[in-house]
Amino acid sequence: AKIFCDRLNSRGLNLNIHSEARPFYAQLAQFEQHQWQAAPLIGGEVRTNGESVTVTNPYDLSCVGTAIFSTSEQIEEALRRATKAFPLWNNSDVDIRATALEKLADLLELNRVELISLCTREAGKSLQDGIDEIREAVDFCRYYAIQARALIGADPQMPGPTGELNQLFVHGRGTFLCISPWNFPLAIFLGQVTAALATGNCVIAKPAEQTNLIAFRATELAHQAGIPADVLQLLPGLGREIGPILTADERINGVCFTGSTATAKHINRTLAAREGAIVPLVAETGGQNAMIVDSTSLPEQVITDVVHSAFQSAGQRCSALRVLYVQEDVAPRMLTLLKGAMAELSVGNPALLSTDVGPVIDATAKDKLNAHIEAISTTGELIAQTVIPTDIEGHFVTPTAVKIDKISQLSQEQFGPILHVITYSSNQIQQVIDDINATGYGLTLGIHSRNEGSAVQIARRVNVGNAYINRNQIGAVVGVQPFGGQGLSGTGPKAGGPHYLTRFVTEKTISNNI
Ligand code: NAD
Ligand code: ALA
Repeated sequence: AKIFCDRLNSRGLNLNIHSEARPFYAQLAQFEQHQWQAAPLIGGEVRTNGESVTVTNPYDLSCVGTAIFSTSEQIEEALRRATKAFPLWNNSDVDIRATALEKLADLLELNRVELISLCTREAGKSLQDGIDEIREAVDFCRYYAIQARALIGADPQMPGPTGELNQLFVHGRGTFLCISPWNFPLAIFLGQVTAALATGNCVIAKPAEQTNLIAFRATELAHQAGIPADVLQLLPGLGREIGPILTADERINGVCFTGSTATAKHINRTLAAREGAIVPLVAETGGQNAMIVDSTSLPEQVITDVVHSAFQSAGQRCSALRVLYVQEDVAPRMLTLLKGAMAELSVGNPALLSTDVGPVIDATAKDKLNAHIEAISTTGELIAQTVIPTDIEGHFVTPTAVKIDKISQLSQEQFGPILHVITYSSNQIQQVIDDINATGYGLTLGIHSRNEGSAVQIARRVNVGNAYINRNQIGAVVGVQPFGGQGLSGTGPKAGGPHYLTRFVTEKTISNNI
Protein backbone atom coordinates (compact mmCIF):
# COMPACT_ATOMS: atom_id res chain seq x y z
CA ALA A 1 0.00 0.00 0.00
CA LYS A 2 1.25 3.46 -0.79
CA ILE A 3 1.63 5.94 2.03
CA PHE A 4 1.17 9.53 0.93
CA CYS A 5 3.01 12.35 2.68
CA ASP A 6 1.15 14.69 4.99
CA ARG A 7 3.79 17.31 4.32
CA LEU A 8 5.70 18.63 1.34
CA ASN A 9 9.46 18.67 0.97
CA SER A 10 11.04 21.82 -0.38
CA ARG A 11 10.84 21.97 -4.15
CA GLY A 12 14.20 23.63 -4.75
CA LEU A 13 14.86 25.10 -8.18
CA ASN A 14 14.78 23.70 -11.67
CA LEU A 15 17.41 25.46 -13.75
CA ASN A 16 16.17 23.76 -16.90
CA ILE A 17 13.08 25.97 -16.69
CA HIS A 18 13.91 29.32 -18.24
CA SER A 19 11.65 31.35 -15.94
CA GLU A 20 13.47 29.93 -12.89
CA ALA A 21 16.96 29.98 -14.38
CA ARG A 22 16.97 33.62 -15.58
CA PRO A 23 16.40 35.35 -12.22
CA PHE A 24 18.61 32.78 -10.51
CA TYR A 25 21.65 33.51 -12.69
CA ALA A 26 21.05 37.25 -12.46
CA GLN A 27 21.13 37.04 -8.66
CA LEU A 28 24.02 34.57 -8.61
CA ALA A 29 26.18 37.03 -10.56
CA GLN A 30 25.92 39.45 -7.62
CA PHE A 31 27.79 36.95 -5.43
CA GLU A 32 30.52 36.02 -7.92
CA GLN A 33 33.07 38.38 -6.39
CA HIS A 34 31.53 38.63 -2.94
CA GLN A 35 33.87 38.26 0.06
CA TRP A 36 32.31 36.77 3.18
CA GLN A 37 33.52 36.75 6.76
CA ALA A 38 33.04 34.19 9.52
CA ALA A 39 33.88 34.72 13.17
CA PRO A 40 32.78 33.50 16.59
CA LEU A 41 29.17 34.54 17.30
CA ILE A 42 28.85 34.75 21.06
CA GLY A 43 25.87 36.32 22.79
CA GLY A 44 24.90 37.65 19.37
CA GLU A 45 28.18 39.57 18.96
CA VAL A 46 30.71 38.97 16.23
CA ARG A 47 34.19 38.55 17.78
CA THR A 48 37.05 39.41 15.48
CA ASN A 49 40.13 39.31 17.69
CA GLY A 50 41.16 35.66 17.09
CA GLU A 51 43.52 34.18 14.49
CA SER A 52 42.29 34.80 10.98
CA VAL A 53 42.66 32.57 7.90
CA THR A 54 41.91 33.16 4.24
CA VAL A 55 39.21 30.95 2.73
CA THR A 56 39.86 29.87 -0.86
CA ASN A 57 37.67 28.40 -3.57
CA PRO A 58 38.64 24.73 -4.16
CA TYR A 59 37.97 25.24 -7.89
CA ASP A 60 40.42 28.05 -8.73
CA LEU A 61 42.01 28.89 -5.36
CA SER A 62 40.60 32.44 -5.50
CA CYS A 63 39.80 34.16 -2.22
CA VAL A 64 36.23 33.80 -0.96
CA GLY A 65 36.59 35.47 2.41
CA THR A 66 38.09 35.28 5.86
CA ALA A 67 37.43 33.03 8.83
CA ILE A 68 38.36 34.08 12.33
CA PHE A 69 38.91 31.34 14.89
CA SER A 70 37.69 31.26 18.50
CA THR A 71 39.97 32.03 21.43
CA SER A 72 39.92 30.03 24.68
CA GLU A 73 38.30 32.99 26.50
CA GLN A 74 35.53 33.00 23.91
CA ILE A 75 34.95 29.25 24.32
CA GLU A 76 34.61 29.76 28.05
CA GLU A 77 32.22 32.68 27.59
CA ALA A 78 30.03 30.75 25.13
CA LEU A 79 29.75 27.81 27.54
CA ARG A 80 28.82 30.14 30.39
CA ARG A 81 26.17 31.92 28.36
CA ALA A 82 24.64 28.69 27.04
CA THR A 83 24.40 27.15 30.51
CA LYS A 84 22.63 30.25 31.78
CA ALA A 85 20.24 30.47 28.82
CA PHE A 86 19.13 26.83 28.98
CA PRO A 87 16.32 26.86 31.61
CA LEU A 88 14.36 29.65 29.94
CA TRP A 89 14.70 28.16 26.46
CA ASN A 90 13.89 24.65 27.67
CA ASN A 91 10.77 25.90 29.42
CA SER A 92 9.59 27.91 26.45
CA ASP A 93 6.57 26.58 24.59
CA VAL A 94 7.65 24.08 21.95
CA ASP A 95 5.53 26.00 19.47
CA ILE A 96 7.74 29.07 19.86
CA ARG A 97 10.80 27.00 19.04
CA ALA A 98 9.12 25.19 16.15
CA THR A 99 7.84 28.45 14.71
CA ALA A 100 11.37 29.91 14.79
CA LEU A 101 12.61 26.90 12.79
CA GLU A 102 9.85 27.37 10.25
CA LYS A 103 10.81 31.04 9.96
CA LEU A 104 14.41 29.93 9.45
CA ALA A 105 13.27 27.62 6.62
CA ASP A 106 11.58 30.61 4.95
CA LEU A 107 14.72 32.73 5.38
CA LEU A 108 16.87 30.00 3.85
CA GLU A 109 14.62 29.97 0.81
CA LEU A 110 14.69 33.75 0.64
CA ASN A 111 18.51 33.76 0.75
CA ARG A 112 18.84 30.65 -1.38
CA VAL A 113 20.97 32.16 -4.12
CA GLU A 114 23.60 33.51 -1.72
CA LEU A 115 23.71 30.15 0.07
CA ILE A 116 24.09 28.28 -3.22
CA SER A 117 26.91 30.62 -4.15
CA LEU A 118 28.58 29.86 -0.82
CA CYS A 119 28.18 26.10 -1.41
CA THR A 120 29.86 26.48 -4.78
CA ARG A 121 32.58 28.97 -3.92
CA GLU A 122 33.49 27.82 -0.42
CA ALA A 123 32.89 24.04 -0.70
CA GLY A 124 33.35 23.48 -4.45
CA LYS A 125 29.85 22.02 -4.77
CA SER A 126 28.16 21.85 -8.16
CA LEU A 127 25.15 24.11 -8.73
CA GLN A 128 22.76 21.16 -8.56
CA ASP A 129 24.37 19.96 -5.31
CA GLY A 130 24.04 23.50 -3.95
CA ILE A 131 20.34 23.60 -4.83
CA ASP A 132 19.82 20.21 -3.20
CA GLU A 133 21.76 21.29 -0.13
CA ILE A 134 19.50 24.28 0.54
CA ARG A 135 16.44 22.09 -0.06
CA GLU A 136 17.64 19.56 2.51
CA ALA A 137 18.40 22.27 5.08
CA VAL A 138 14.90 23.70 4.61
CA ASP A 139 13.41 20.23 4.98
CA PHE A 140 15.30 19.60 8.22
CA CYS A 141 13.96 22.85 9.73
CA ARG A 142 10.35 22.10 8.81
CA TYR A 143 10.49 18.39 9.61
CA TYR A 144 12.03 18.81 13.06
CA ALA A 145 9.53 21.57 13.85
CA ILE A 146 6.71 19.08 13.19
CA GLN A 147 8.47 16.28 15.07
CA ALA A 148 9.17 18.50 18.10
CA ARG A 149 5.55 19.56 18.38
CA ALA A 150 4.52 15.91 18.35
CA LEU A 151 7.22 14.71 20.76
CA ILE A 152 7.25 17.50 23.31
CA GLY A 153 3.90 19.21 23.02
CA ALA A 154 1.94 16.05 23.77
CA ASP A 155 3.19 15.20 27.31
CA PRO A 156 1.20 11.97 26.96
CA GLN A 157 -0.87 10.71 29.82
CA MET A 158 -0.05 7.07 30.60
CA PRO A 159 -2.52 4.48 31.94
CA GLY A 160 -3.41 4.84 35.66
CA PRO A 161 -4.92 1.50 36.66
CA THR A 162 -4.93 2.34 40.40
CA GLY A 163 -6.38 5.76 39.86
CA GLU A 164 -3.11 7.68 39.93
CA LEU A 165 -2.20 10.18 37.22
CA ASN A 166 0.88 9.04 35.29
CA GLN A 167 2.38 11.55 32.89
CA LEU A 168 5.48 11.42 30.73
CA PHE A 169 7.30 14.73 30.24
CA VAL A 170 9.99 15.34 27.64
CA HIS A 171 12.69 18.02 28.05
CA GLY A 172 15.91 19.20 26.51
CA ARG A 173 19.17 17.96 28.03
CA GLY A 174 21.15 21.19 28.34
CA THR A 175 23.85 22.40 25.96
CA PHE A 176 24.48 20.33 22.85
CA LEU A 177 27.77 20.58 21.01
CA CYS A 178 27.10 20.21 17.26
CA ILE A 179 30.16 19.29 15.21
CA SER A 180 29.57 19.18 11.47
CA PRO A 181 31.52 18.22 8.32
CA TRP A 182 32.38 20.29 5.25
CA ASN A 183 30.64 18.05 2.70
CA PHE A 184 27.13 19.15 3.74
CA PRO A 185 28.16 22.51 5.16
CA LEU A 186 24.60 23.83 5.44
CA ALA A 187 22.25 20.82 5.50
CA ILE A 188 24.09 18.78 8.13
CA PHE A 189 25.14 21.88 10.06
CA LEU A 190 21.51 22.99 10.34
CA GLY A 191 20.12 19.46 10.65
CA GLN A 192 22.09 18.96 13.85
CA VAL A 193 21.47 22.46 15.19
CA THR A 194 17.72 22.53 14.53
CA ALA A 195 17.16 19.09 16.11
CA ALA A 196 18.89 20.23 19.28
CA LEU A 197 17.13 23.61 19.37
CA ALA A 198 13.65 22.24 18.67
CA THR A 199 13.94 19.94 21.68
CA GLY A 200 14.82 22.77 24.07
CA ASN A 201 18.62 22.53 24.11
CA CYS A 202 21.09 25.36 23.75
CA VAL A 203 23.64 24.82 21.00
CA ILE A 204 27.31 25.49 20.56
CA ALA A 205 28.01 24.88 16.90
CA LYS A 206 31.51 23.97 15.73
CA PRO A 207 31.45 23.80 11.92
CA ALA A 208 34.16 22.16 9.82
CA GLU A 209 37.20 24.41 9.46
CA GLN A 210 36.84 24.29 5.64
CA THR A 211 33.30 25.75 5.61
CA ASN A 212 32.94 28.39 8.30
CA LEU A 213 31.53 31.06 5.98
CA ILE A 214 28.25 29.33 5.20
CA ALA A 215 27.86 28.20 8.82
CA PHE A 216 28.25 31.81 9.95
CA ARG A 217 25.61 32.99 7.46
CA ALA A 218 23.23 30.21 8.58
CA THR A 219 23.70 31.19 12.23
CA GLU A 220 22.92 34.82 11.42
CA LEU A 221 19.72 33.71 9.70
CA ALA A 222 18.78 31.51 12.68
CA HIS A 223 19.09 34.52 14.98
CA GLN A 224 17.05 36.58 12.54
CA ALA A 225 14.40 33.83 12.69
CA GLY A 226 14.06 34.28 16.44
CA ILE A 227 16.58 31.90 18.01
CA PRO A 228 17.99 33.85 20.98
CA ALA A 229 21.63 34.90 20.80
CA ASP A 230 22.82 32.89 23.82
CA VAL A 231 20.82 29.83 22.79
CA LEU A 232 22.74 29.37 19.53
CA GLN A 233 26.41 30.34 19.43
CA LEU A 234 29.03 29.63 16.79
CA LEU A 235 32.64 28.73 17.53
CA PRO A 236 34.77 28.44 14.40
CA GLY A 237 38.14 26.82 14.92
CA LEU A 238 40.31 23.81 14.17
CA GLY A 239 38.48 20.66 15.23
CA ARG A 240 41.59 18.98 16.60
CA GLU A 241 42.28 22.05 18.78
CA ILE A 242 38.94 23.28 20.08
CA GLY A 243 37.06 19.98 19.71
CA PRO A 244 38.82 18.28 22.64
CA ILE A 245 38.39 21.38 24.86
CA LEU A 246 34.65 21.44 24.24
CA THR A 247 34.00 17.70 24.44
CA ALA A 248 35.92 17.46 27.73
CA ASP A 249 33.85 20.22 29.33
CA GLU A 250 31.21 19.09 31.86
CA ARG A 251 28.86 21.85 30.67
CA ILE A 252 28.36 20.03 27.36
CA ASN A 253 25.38 17.73 27.95
CA GLY A 254 25.31 16.01 24.59
CA VAL A 255 27.30 15.86 21.34
CA CYS A 256 25.93 15.59 17.85
CA PHE A 257 28.72 14.75 15.43
CA THR A 258 29.00 14.01 11.73
CA GLY A 259 32.39 13.22 10.25
CA SER A 260 34.95 10.46 10.16
CA THR A 261 34.74 7.30 12.24
CA ALA A 262 38.16 8.04 13.75
CA THR A 263 37.04 11.44 15.07
CA ALA A 264 33.77 9.96 16.41
CA LYS A 265 35.76 7.39 18.39
CA HIS A 266 38.05 10.09 19.69
CA ILE A 267 35.07 12.12 20.91
CA ASN A 268 33.51 9.01 22.44
CA ARG A 269 36.68 8.32 24.43
CA THR A 270 36.84 11.93 25.65
CA LEU A 271 33.20 11.84 26.79
CA ALA A 272 33.72 8.49 28.52
CA ALA A 273 36.74 9.83 30.41
CA ARG A 274 34.78 12.74 31.87
CA GLU A 275 33.77 12.84 35.49
CA GLY A 276 30.07 13.33 36.16
CA ALA A 277 27.06 12.53 34.02
CA ILE A 278 27.02 10.08 31.12
CA VAL A 279 26.14 12.14 28.05
CA PRO A 280 24.82 10.98 24.69
CA LEU A 281 26.80 11.04 21.47
CA VAL A 282 24.90 10.99 18.19
CA ALA A 283 27.52 10.11 15.58
CA GLU A 284 27.06 9.80 11.84
CA THR A 285 30.25 8.65 10.22
CA GLY A 286 31.76 7.09 7.10
CA GLY A 287 31.02 4.08 4.95
CA GLN A 288 32.54 1.47 2.64
CA ASN A 289 29.39 1.41 0.55
CA ALA A 290 28.77 -1.37 -1.96
CA MET A 291 26.37 -1.99 -4.82
CA ILE A 292 25.53 -5.55 -5.92
CA VAL A 293 24.56 -5.96 -9.57
CA ASP A 294 23.24 -9.33 -10.75
CA SER A 295 22.79 -10.71 -14.23
CA THR A 296 19.06 -9.91 -14.38
CA SER A 297 19.64 -6.16 -14.01
CA LEU A 298 19.20 -3.59 -16.76
CA PRO A 299 22.73 -2.51 -17.81
CA GLU A 300 21.96 1.06 -18.91
CA GLN A 301 20.03 1.79 -15.72
CA VAL A 302 22.80 0.23 -13.65
CA ILE A 303 25.50 2.38 -15.19
CA THR A 304 23.48 5.60 -14.84
CA ASP A 305 23.00 4.83 -11.15
CA VAL A 306 26.62 3.71 -10.63
CA VAL A 307 28.06 6.88 -12.14
CA HIS A 308 25.64 9.02 -10.18
CA SER A 309 26.34 7.23 -6.88
CA ALA A 310 30.12 7.13 -7.26
CA PHE A 311 30.96 10.47 -8.89
CA GLN A 312 28.28 13.04 -8.05
CA SER A 313 29.64 15.54 -5.51
CA ALA A 314 33.09 14.27 -6.62
CA GLY A 315 32.38 11.19 -4.51
CA GLN A 316 32.42 13.30 -1.36
CA ARG A 317 29.26 11.90 0.18
CA CYS A 318 29.26 9.47 3.06
CA SER A 319 26.58 7.59 1.12
CA ALA A 320 28.63 7.38 -2.12
CA LEU A 321 29.29 4.11 -3.87
CA ARG A 322 32.83 2.81 -3.26
CA VAL A 323 32.69 -0.87 -4.23
CA LEU A 324 30.71 -2.20 -7.17
CA TYR A 325 30.08 -5.97 -7.24
CA VAL A 326 29.13 -7.18 -10.73
CA GLN A 327 28.06 -10.73 -11.50
CA GLU A 328 30.72 -12.07 -13.85
CA ASP A 329 28.35 -13.12 -16.69
CA VAL A 330 27.41 -9.48 -17.28
CA ALA A 331 30.69 -7.86 -16.23
CA PRO A 332 32.19 -7.34 -19.74
CA ARG A 333 29.09 -5.48 -20.95
CA MET A 334 28.79 -3.46 -17.71
CA LEU A 335 32.44 -2.43 -17.77
CA THR A 336 32.24 -1.37 -21.41
CA LEU A 337 29.25 0.81 -20.56
CA LEU A 338 31.02 2.16 -17.47
CA LYS A 339 34.05 3.20 -19.52
CA GLY A 340 31.77 4.95 -21.99
CA ALA A 341 29.86 6.77 -19.28
CA MET A 342 33.03 7.88 -17.49
CA ALA A 343 34.43 9.23 -20.76
CA GLU A 344 31.38 11.48 -20.97
CA LEU A 345 31.74 13.02 -17.50
CA SER A 346 32.46 16.71 -17.56
CA VAL A 347 35.00 17.69 -14.89
CA GLY A 348 35.57 21.34 -14.10
CA ASN A 349 33.92 24.52 -12.88
CA PRO A 350 31.24 23.63 -10.30
CA ALA A 351 29.43 26.90 -11.03
CA LEU A 352 28.44 25.63 -14.50
CA LEU A 353 25.30 23.52 -14.73
CA SER A 354 27.02 21.34 -17.37
CA THR A 355 29.71 20.21 -14.89
CA ASP A 356 29.28 16.71 -13.49
CA VAL A 357 32.33 16.54 -11.23
CA GLY A 358 33.86 19.47 -9.41
CA PRO A 359 36.93 19.69 -7.20
CA VAL A 360 37.57 17.89 -3.92
CA ILE A 361 37.63 20.03 -0.82
CA ASP A 362 41.34 20.76 -0.34
CA ALA A 363 44.94 19.85 -1.14
CA THR A 364 45.15 17.33 1.73
CA ALA A 365 42.14 15.42 0.37
CA LYS A 366 43.52 15.56 -3.16
CA ASP A 367 46.94 14.20 -2.14
CA LYS A 368 45.42 11.40 -0.08
CA LEU A 369 43.09 10.32 -2.90
CA ASN A 370 45.86 10.47 -5.52
CA ALA A 371 48.11 8.38 -3.30
CA HIS A 372 45.34 5.78 -3.06
CA ILE A 373 44.81 5.76 -6.85
CA GLU A 374 48.52 5.22 -7.36
CA ALA A 375 48.72 2.40 -4.81
CA ILE A 376 45.54 0.58 -5.84
CA SER A 377 46.39 0.82 -9.54
CA THR A 378 49.51 -1.25 -8.96
CA THR A 379 47.71 -4.06 -7.12
CA GLY A 380 44.41 -3.74 -9.03
CA GLU A 381 43.64 -3.23 -12.72
CA LEU A 382 42.72 0.22 -13.98
CA ILE A 383 39.36 0.15 -15.80
CA ALA A 384 38.85 3.80 -16.71
CA GLN A 385 39.86 7.35 -15.86
CA THR A 386 37.97 10.40 -17.02
CA VAL A 387 40.14 12.85 -18.92
CA ILE A 388 40.25 16.13 -17.00
CA PRO A 389 41.30 19.51 -18.41
CA THR A 390 45.05 20.09 -18.04
CA ASP A 391 44.76 23.80 -17.23
CA ILE A 392 42.73 23.33 -14.03
CA GLU A 393 44.41 24.90 -11.02
CA GLY A 394 42.18 23.68 -8.21
CA HIS A 395 41.97 20.55 -6.11
CA PHE A 396 40.86 18.08 -8.77
CA VAL A 397 41.07 14.30 -8.62
CA THR A 398 40.57 12.26 -11.78
CA PRO A 399 37.42 10.10 -11.59
CA THR A 400 38.82 6.58 -11.55
CA ALA A 401 37.45 3.02 -11.72
CA VAL A 402 39.75 0.18 -10.75
CA LYS A 403 39.20 -3.58 -10.54
CA ILE A 404 40.22 -5.23 -7.29
CA ASP A 405 39.85 -8.75 -5.87
CA LYS A 406 38.38 -8.21 -2.42
CA ILE A 407 36.76 -5.43 -0.42
CA SER A 408 39.17 -6.25 2.42
CA GLN A 409 41.97 -4.72 0.30
CA LEU A 410 40.46 -1.34 1.20
CA SER A 411 41.54 -0.52 4.71
CA GLN A 412 39.67 2.79 4.93
CA GLU A 413 37.03 4.92 3.27
CA GLN A 414 38.37 6.86 0.24
CA PHE A 415 36.32 10.04 0.27
CA GLY A 416 36.42 11.01 -3.39
CA PRO A 417 35.68 10.00 -7.01
CA ILE A 418 37.20 6.50 -6.89
CA LEU A 419 35.16 3.41 -7.73
CA HIS A 420 36.43 -0.11 -6.97
CA VAL A 421 34.96 -2.98 -8.97
CA ILE A 422 34.82 -6.65 -7.97
CA THR A 423 33.32 -9.47 -10.06
CA TYR A 424 31.55 -12.45 -8.48
CA SER A 425 29.85 -15.61 -9.66
CA SER A 426 26.24 -16.51 -8.85
CA ASN A 427 27.27 -19.11 -6.25
CA GLN A 428 29.36 -16.52 -4.36
CA ILE A 429 26.56 -14.19 -3.28
CA GLN A 430 26.70 -15.32 0.35
CA GLN A 431 30.46 -14.65 0.35
CA VAL A 432 29.83 -11.17 -1.07
CA ILE A 433 27.35 -10.43 1.73
CA ASP A 434 29.76 -11.78 4.36
CA ASP A 435 32.65 -9.72 2.95
CA ILE A 436 30.63 -6.50 2.99
CA ASN A 437 29.45 -7.18 6.54
CA ALA A 438 33.01 -7.98 7.60
CA THR A 439 34.12 -4.41 6.83
CA GLY A 440 32.22 -3.35 9.96
CA TYR A 441 30.81 -0.32 8.14
CA GLY A 442 27.08 -0.20 7.47
CA LEU A 443 25.89 2.94 5.75
CA THR A 444 24.42 2.47 2.27
CA LEU A 445 23.95 -0.46 -0.09
CA GLY A 446 22.77 -0.47 -3.69
CA ILE A 447 21.21 -3.52 -5.35
CA HIS A 448 20.37 -3.88 -9.02
CA SER A 449 18.28 -6.90 -9.93
CA ARG A 450 14.94 -7.77 -11.50
CA ASN A 451 14.65 -10.72 -9.15
CA GLU A 452 12.65 -9.07 -6.39
CA GLY A 453 12.89 -11.95 -3.92
CA SER A 454 16.66 -12.09 -4.12
CA ALA A 455 17.07 -8.28 -4.02
CA VAL A 456 14.95 -7.98 -0.87
CA GLN A 457 16.82 -10.87 0.78
CA ILE A 458 20.17 -9.19 0.10
CA ALA A 459 18.85 -5.87 1.43
CA ARG A 460 17.83 -7.64 4.65
CA ARG A 461 21.09 -9.56 5.11
CA VAL A 462 23.62 -6.81 4.55
CA ASN A 463 24.04 -4.77 7.72
CA VAL A 464 23.42 -1.24 6.50
CA GLY A 465 21.31 1.71 7.46
CA ASN A 466 20.01 2.52 3.97
CA ALA A 467 19.53 -0.03 1.17
CA TYR A 468 18.36 1.10 -2.27
CA ILE A 469 16.99 -1.30 -4.90
CA ASN A 470 17.15 -0.40 -8.60
CA ARG A 471 18.14 3.23 -8.16
CA ASN A 472 21.14 5.28 -7.12
CA GLN A 473 22.21 5.15 -3.49
CA ILE A 474 22.70 8.81 -2.60
CA GLY A 475 20.47 11.73 -1.75
CA ALA A 476 18.24 10.47 1.05
CA VAL A 477 15.21 12.76 1.40
CA VAL A 478 14.25 14.15 4.81
CA GLY A 479 11.16 12.46 6.22
CA VAL A 480 11.11 10.01 3.33
CA GLN A 481 14.35 8.03 3.63
CA PRO A 482 15.53 8.45 7.24
CA PHE A 483 19.31 8.40 6.91
CA GLY A 484 22.15 6.96 8.96
CA GLY A 485 24.20 3.85 9.44
CA GLN A 486 25.24 1.21 11.92
CA GLY A 487 28.48 -0.29 13.20
CA LEU A 488 31.48 1.83 12.18
CA SER A 489 29.07 4.10 10.26
CA GLY A 490 27.28 5.59 13.22
CA THR A 491 25.18 5.34 16.32
CA GLY A 492 21.76 6.34 14.96
CA PRO A 493 19.05 7.45 15.34
CA LYS A 494 18.53 8.37 11.75
CA ALA A 495 18.66 11.98 10.61
CA GLY A 496 15.44 13.11 8.99
CA GLY A 497 13.56 10.23 10.62
CA PRO A 498 10.82 10.00 13.22
CA HIS A 499 13.12 8.90 16.06
CA TYR A 500 15.97 11.40 15.65
CA LEU A 501 14.77 13.93 18.21
CA THR A 502 14.43 11.32 20.95
CA ARG A 503 18.22 11.30 21.40
CA PHE A 504 18.23 15.02 22.20
CA VAL A 505 15.82 14.83 25.13
CA THR A 506 15.47 13.37 28.61
CA GLU A 507 12.17 11.95 29.79
CA LYS A 508 10.53 12.26 33.18
CA THR A 509 7.53 10.30 34.45
CA ILE A 510 5.48 11.94 37.20
CA SER A 511 3.07 9.63 39.05
CA ASN A 512 0.61 11.79 40.92
CA ASN A 513 -1.60 10.46 43.72
CA ILE A 514 -2.91 13.74 45.06
P1 NAD B 1 36.43 14.86 10.31
O1 NAD B 1 36.11 13.80 11.28
O2 NAD B 1 37.85 15.13 10.02
O3 NAD B 1 35.80 16.26 10.75
C1 NAD B 1 34.45 16.38 11.06
C2 NAD B 1 34.27 17.47 12.11
O4 NAD B 1 34.95 17.08 13.30
C3 NAD B 1 34.88 18.82 11.72
O5 NAD B 1 34.04 19.85 12.19
C4 NAD B 1 36.19 18.84 12.46
O6 NAD B 1 36.63 20.14 12.73
C5 NAD B 1 35.80 18.13 13.74
N1 NAD B 1 36.90 17.53 14.50
C6 NAD B 1 38.10 17.09 14.04
N2 NAD B 1 38.82 16.58 15.06
C7 NAD B 1 38.08 16.70 16.19
C8 NAD B 1 38.28 16.35 17.56
N3 NAD B 1 39.40 15.77 17.98
N4 NAD B 1 37.29 16.61 18.44
C9 NAD B 1 36.13 17.19 18.04
N5 NAD B 1 35.90 17.55 16.75
C10 NAD B 1 36.86 17.31 15.83
O7 NAD B 1 35.64 14.46 8.97
P2 NAD B 1 35.74 15.19 7.57
O8 NAD B 1 36.86 14.61 6.82
O9 NAD B 1 35.66 16.65 7.70
O10 NAD B 1 34.35 14.74 6.92
C11 NAD B 1 34.23 13.67 6.07
C12 NAD B 1 33.76 12.45 6.83
O11 NAD B 1 32.43 12.68 7.27
C13 NAD B 1 33.70 11.21 5.99
O12 NAD B 1 34.19 10.12 6.70
C14 NAD B 1 32.21 11.04 5.73
O13 NAD B 1 31.85 9.71 5.44
C15 NAD B 1 31.62 11.55 6.98
N6 NAD B 1 30.22 11.96 6.81
C16 NAD B 1 29.25 11.18 7.32
C17 NAD B 1 27.90 11.51 7.13
C18 NAD B 1 26.80 10.65 7.66
O14 NAD B 1 25.66 11.12 7.69
N7 NAD B 1 27.05 9.43 8.05
C19 NAD B 1 27.59 12.66 6.40
C20 NAD B 1 28.62 13.45 5.90
C21 NAD B 1 29.94 13.08 6.12
N1 ALA C 1 22.11 12.25 3.29
C1 ALA C 1 23.14 12.27 2.29
C2 ALA C 1 22.89 11.29 1.19
O1 ALA C 1 22.00 10.48 1.33
C3 ALA C 1 24.48 12.06 2.91
O2 ALA C 1 23.58 11.32 0.22
